[in-house]
Amino acid sequence: GAPVSVNLSAIPAGTMVTAEWQGKPVWILHRTPEMIAGLSKIDQFLADPNSDRPGYTPEYAKNTHRSRKEQWFVCVGICTHLGCSPSPRFAMGGAEGMPANWEGGFLCPCHGSQFDLAGRVFKNQPAPDNLLVPPYYFVDDNTIMVG
Ligand code: FES
Repeated sequence: GAPVSVNLSAIPAGTMVTAEWQGKPVWILHRTPEMIAGLSKIDQFLADPNSDRPGYTPEYAKNTHRSRKEQWFVCVGICTHLGCSPSPRFAMGGAEGMPANWEGGFLCPCHGSQFDLAGRVFKNQPAPDNLLVPPYYFVDDNTIMVG
């Protein structure tokens, strides 16, 4: 499929948009400084905090924020369990039904898998792996190309 262009200037900090690429939902989340800071606090609760498992994380996203730029998170919004689409839960500090150490993330409605704001899956969830980071690059500071 053709690459898809996304205009980042239309995405305020703390919000996300969903683009479509190869028939799949691709999330583009503009993380706030608080969201970025939360990522480094929870490694011990994650199944694969450094994204060492092959197949889900390109080299340029093998870092704590799993992205080319720490404020921009790009991933395929499809659960690595059985393919449902998780929902954002951006509230910090133990949102309803979430762990006390919750720093915001995504919750899969099908079987309850929890992911952080870098798409990293928590331990002991039905989902075995982190969410997939697709190929993408920055055309300029306000534009990415997915694909
Ligand atoms: Fe997401 Fe099962 S499909 S937890």
